[in-house]
Amino acid sequence: MNSSLRKYESLNTASEKKLKVYNAISEHVYPGRVEKLLGGGIDFVPAKREGYIWWDTDGRELYDLHINGGVYNLGHRNQEVVKELVAACNELDIGNHHFPSEPKALLAEALIKNTPGEMQYVVLTSSGSEANDVAVKTARVTTGRRKVVALDCAYHGRTGISGAAGDDETARYFNSDSPDEFIKVPFNDIRAMENVLKHRDIALVMMEMIPATAGFVMPEGNYLKEVKKLCEKYSTLFLADEVQTGLGRTGYRWASDCWDVEPDMIVIGKGLSGGMYPISALVMKKEPGAWLTDNGWGHVSTFGGSDIGCRVALKALEISLSKEALENARKQGGYIRAGLEKIKPRFPFFEEIRQQGLIFGLKFQDKMYGLGMMKALYENGIWAIGAGFDETVIQFKPGLLVDKAYCDELLRRFENACIWMVNSINALISGSTINENDQEIKTIKKLAQSSLIKWNLNGAELALLKHRENTVFKVTDTFTSKKYALRIHREDYHTKAALESEVNWMEALDNNGVHCPKCIKTDKGEHFVVAYHTSIPAGRYCSLLEWVDGAPFDNLGRVENGVLPELLVRYKKLGSVAADIHNQSENWQPPKGFFRHSWDKEGLLGENPLWGRFWEHPKLTKDQKRQILKARIVLKGLLDQVGKKSSNYGLIHADFLPENVLADGDELRLIDFDDCGYGWHMFEMATSLFPQISQPYFDELVVAYVEGYRSRRDFSKEELKLLPAFMMIRGFAYIGWLMTRSESIPMGDRIVEEIAQGLCKHIPDLMAELSPIQRMGVELISFYQNLRK
Ligand SMILES: Cc1ncc(COP(=O)(O)O)c(C=O)c1O
Repeated sequence: MNSSLRKYESLNTASEKKLKVYNAISEHVYPGRVEKLLGGGIDFVPAKREGYIWWDTDGRELYDLHINGGVYNLGHRNQEVVKELVAACNELDIGNHHFPSEPKALLAEALIKNTPGEMQYVVLTSSGSEANDVAVKTARVTTGRRKVVALDCAYHGRTGISGAAGDDETARYFNSDSPDEFIKVPFNDIRAMENVLKHRDIALVMMEMIPATAGFVMPEGNYLKEVKKLCEKYSTLFLADEVQTGLGRTGYRWASDCWDVEPDMIVIGKGLSGGMYPISALVMKKEPGAWLTDNGWGHVSTFGGSDIGCRVALKALEISLSKEALENARKQGGYIRAGLEKIKPRFPFFEEIRQQGLIFGLKFQDKMYGLGMMKALYENGIWAIGAGFDETVIQFKPGLLVDKAYCDELLRRFENACIWMVNSINALISGSTINENDQEIKTIKKLAQSSLIKWNLNGAELALLKHRENTVFKVTDTFTSKKYALRIHREDYHTKAALESEVNWMEALDNNGVHCPKCIKTDKGEHFVVAYHTSIPAGRYCSLLEWVDGAPFDNLGRVENGVLPELLVRYKKLGSVAADIHNQSENWQPPKGFFRHSWDKEGLLGENPLWGRFWEHPKLTKDQKRQILKARIVLKGLLDQVGKKSSNYGLIHADFLPENVLADGDELRLIDFDDCGYGWHMFEMATSLFPQISQPYFDELVVAYVEGYRSRRDFSKEELKLLPAFMMIRGFAYIGWLMTRSESIPMGDRIVEEIAQGLCKHIPDLMAELSPIQRMGVELISFYQNLRK
């Protein structure tokens, strides 16, 4: 495989066929695009296609909600269109662009008949961009003016003229922008439009009727009609670019019908091809089309208006504008909208539904959620693309002929994608960006390399896996191809005794059926060695662990048959593993000299909690700080009441998140015992469940987890009632943890804000549980604490 593509994990399991395609395309066609898609985890190579579904070269099925902007309005390989194409191929060919032909004549008549107002002329082209170019030339020759107004968020194509009419950045990139001639105004801003038009030097207003690349922003009120009126007032031509909005997609023939506008010219593309043969059109009124009489060869296009293309387009037009198709677009559009409206309130990151007929722009909280949803949809069987100029929005474009069964399945997959998204967002936001060129990492890598000699692995390949508290490398022995995980332990966290104790417990757990990687001893029988570097003179402890295959347990991958059921199965399993850990630790007698820290009252809520003085996080508001300090007092009292018993307190993993459980088939292995210590079992449980705390299905996950736990160990209803309090304690610990990581975790501050907001909402409930006297006590203590500061 081309070495630059090797880094993409999804290609590891790809077929030879797919790899070949990727290699060739990245060598010769669009390397930049391939890299971007693979970088976003999108590894689709379309092969079989039918209706509104297509399949990858490796057999994976996707619902096509991009439909190439409307090219597949009638579905992939619509059989009526295919039949027409085959029939045309048996009689015709491209034809000759200089001569009249019957297919051209019939298509032109049909277009004139089916477009709004008094249209007279048609220029047939092979692309929408070309049709837009002709529209600009037409306006210039008709008005004698050169300037054009377009929306600052519009896309009209990528040829020279249409490109200059669209986003400046790309045109400028090719040194092809003309800011003096293409003036940009904001959408839905009638004043800005008039301010430009009033100078009476504008030839054309190019209007993308519902700007697609901006995320299908809907025209407000009478905006489109008002713009047309202004055009009349200032003798400017009005072009409706209906490449994305035409041919029934709005539930009307054209967006122009939907908003009751009569354009001077209209550009039609994409769906006119029936998805089978490229063709587009510029349809215009008599006056702007006068140049066609004056200069018959004014615009010539070899493939534009090919005979075969015209036959296909005629058929596509007939089906798309049929009464049934238009009714279906309105009906199914409404049905999908109603379904989405039901899903939306359950997922706060899903902010807005923009819709007209079968055109949908789905807006998410921010770019991270927008791009994340594109991936989530992809993993759940839907191909939909983010809007190029606003990545918070997903373009969601069901085809014209979809039926109820398709829409139901679409909504099911969409809902799955939302659940997938919330399950994965933690990994997305807390995943730190590792820059291997960072000086610190380079130094640690050198130190790591020098340690390998102790295991007779000098010269083995090192690949960075994680750089957080500890730095972890994958080690590959180049002679035997055997793999290991090398951990470089952070400074000043654990003593040697604590590190040895961690290994002792992992071994004991492993012997009791809770699988953990084995720690590999050096020739001298050591678990830990100290390696040095000139800039780390104190050295770092290094340990080598058995390599564990498998994916993190929260990595759902592709779960096309229901994400929630899968999550429930996983959390149940997680609960049972937690119980296994606690069973083992309750019955285990640690060896002499065993030492681990304690997640006890002091470790969690004391003056110097293990993960930091969370109430001092600079992102907390004054009020939040005050509330959190009160909660801290109440929770300390609660921990005293709960007490430490062998049934509720003992050795815990303490970072028992799904990401620290690796699944290889049915085999689960626990990793990262760095935080293990003595603590409440409830804290373990709260840790596993915390990432899901604000999700709509949280209660169901708790039930599944507890069911799994109870299948192995007793757990009373009374104990379960303590979960909210322990969740709060875990949340506080998390805030403390993030306090020292604002640089390495890019979204850290935002996570703190979210956690703090979420937890503070529940602090009044916590206070409400107290008796009036207790509440007064808390108020008094917090008053004196504030005084002391
Ligand atoms: C609104 C709009 N206009 C014009 C075009 C350009 O069409 P083509 O890609 O066929 O040149 C597109 C393409 O996406 C479009 O969305």
